[in-house]
Amino acid sequence: MLRYLRFPYDLLVNGSAYAVLNFLIHKPTPLDEERVWKFITGPEPALRRIVREAWPPSFLRRILLRAKQYQDAALGIQEHYDVSNEFYKLFLDPKFMFYSCADHIRGDETLIEAQTNKANHLLGLIDPKPGEKIVELGCGWASMLRHIEQHTGDRENLEGFTLSKEQAAYIKENFGYRVRLENFVKADYPKEYYDKVYSIAAWEAIRPQENPIILKKIYDALKPGGRFVLHFFSRLTPKLPAAITVSQLFFPGHVPASHPEIVHEFEKAGFRITQMTCHDYRTTLRQWFEAMVARKEEAIKLVGIETYNRYVVFFPASYKYFDDRTGVLFRYVLSKPPIK
Ligand SMILES: C[S@@+](CC[C@H](N)C(=O)[O-])C[C@H]1O[C@@H](n2cnc3c(N)ncnc32)[C@H](O)[C@@H]1O
Repeated sequence: MLRYLRFPYDLLVNGSAYAVLNFLIHKPTPLDEERVWKFITGPEPALRRIVREAWPPSFLRRILLRAKQYQDAALGIQEHYDVSNEFYKLFLDPKFMFYSCADHIRGDETLIEAQTNKANHLLGLIDPKPGEKIVELGCGWASMLRHIEQHTGDRENLEGFTLSKEQAAYIKENFGYRVRLENFVKADYPKEYYDKVYSIAAWEAIRPQENPIILKKIYDALKPGGRFVLHFFSRLTPKLPAAITVSQLFFPGHVPASHPEIVHEFEKAGFRITQMTCHDYRTTLRQWFEAMVARKEEAIKLVGIETYNRYVVFFPASYKYFDDRTGVLFRYVLSKPPIK
């Protein structure tokens, strides 16, 4: 009942896409998954697109986002990842449990194969060596930390940050890496301590105004000649797209940086950009969706209908974000210049 009352309010304040998706999420029974997928990702009638993009207008969008940003973004992240480890296990690849874009190079890879491609690509970019001090900002279930340890045989010098209590407990229990249950933006770092710092699918959560602060911290924490590898999506232009309002349904207060702005921030912080590649997120999102739907009964048992419906909407909404080229997944290799 409440969703019928919320719908006109959402329509007026947050726009048509937000209103419809929020209405779907709160359906008291499980959604028809394929119908939702087709509705969100299929061809969009011109009028629907015009309405979706026109309201709320950009000045109102900015006001709404500013209001959302007063909330602690860290709480939104915690909420997202503390759903339940068992739930994520239903749809993430069983080998690594990566919750980040995989690399489908041929196009027909299974999720495990594509995540292995990604892990190997990142390994090449990070280029870890035994004895090097390495930290992952936003380490999830320690997928990449494990891949690095397999390669170097060194676990003592690995460290990770997460905001999720569930992830931290899981890592401690299963792998024993040093994990800081702490916001990496607010954390203190030892000076010129790390050889490599990397972050996979966590920089999206950094608010644009936080970039100079955290980038300076990382720059100072790296040894001269150190390396910083990032994998995250950003929007292609500084203009705030309509889709930003929709993403508030899943990550309140979330405003991904724009690609031109972030590149500028990297250089302003003193880094040299030595590599930059872009990757296609869409197949990964579809594979997660299919894997979750295949285990629907278990998923609902674990998280309930509302959270299940939220993910039934989240995956195609994210697919659409990339399909429209509103956002693109980039990997960057940044280097701190060595002492001359
Ligand atoms: C999408 S998951 C990616 C996890 C992992 N890197 C992977 O590729 O599977 C994002 C991770 O970043 C963490 N995270 C996001 N923002 C953070 C912050 N400000 N401080 C600490 N951890 C953060 C979350 O807790 C979560 O572990």
